[in-house]
Amino acid sequence: MNEVLNSIAKRSSTRGYTGEKLTEEELKQLILAGLQAPTAANKQEIHITVVDGSNPILREIEDVKNKERGIEDPPHNFYYEAPTVLLLSADENFFWSPLDAGIAVENIALAAESMGLGSLIIGCIKDAMRGEKKDYFAKALRFPAGFEFQIAIALGHKGTEKEPHEYSWEKNVTRL
Ligand SMILES: Cc1cc2nc3c(=O)[nH]c(=O)nc-3n(C[C@H](O)[C@H](O)[C@H](O)COP(=O)(O)O)c2cc1C
Repeated sequence: MNEVLNSIAKRSSTRGYTGEKLTEEELKQLILAGLQAPTAANKQEIHITVVDGSNPILREIEDVKNKERGIEDPPHNFYYEAPTVLLLSADENFFWSPLDAGIAVENIALAAESMGLGSLIIGCIKDAMRGEKKDYFAKALRFPAGFEFQIAIALGHKGTEKEPHEYSWEKNVTRL
């Protein structure tokens, strides 16, 4: 199996991280993997905000998310104490922004796996990011004008291991 196929097969969400930070080189490679994802009409509209896991803005997002969902005592935060979280935003009026962001975030997840790192794609904060505090969060996270939150990804060294899921050709594939 080649390296790409191996990373696809081995990737699995990581919901527990060691405290070890990513190196600048690792971080740059992960961001580049996101930027190198294809975008519709080569619009390259995906913006990546890099946030350290200790940044209080993440706590604020977490609090709004929990309030909206009526969660009083969450067992973990939305990024599982990962040392780095990337928040992807994109042009709110471009039809393909959500799909382009999905492709970019998977590129990052696969790059992380290929580097021996863990990742978790995060969508649960979408309502919090696009709710009453949308403009506040967009400004705090320095989204470009007219951009809105699409998806996030937590990144770090794996503190927990999880086997990849099984997949079903019978259920999911039709071959004419
Ligand atoms: C669009 C999207 C949003 C997701 N949002 C969350 C999330 O908010 N929290 C979480 O723990 N996992 C989230 N996940 C991870 C999925 O739960 C996970 O990918 C799925 O259960 C399959 O498991 P695997 O990643 O280990 O293969 C998200 C995944 C995707 C693709």
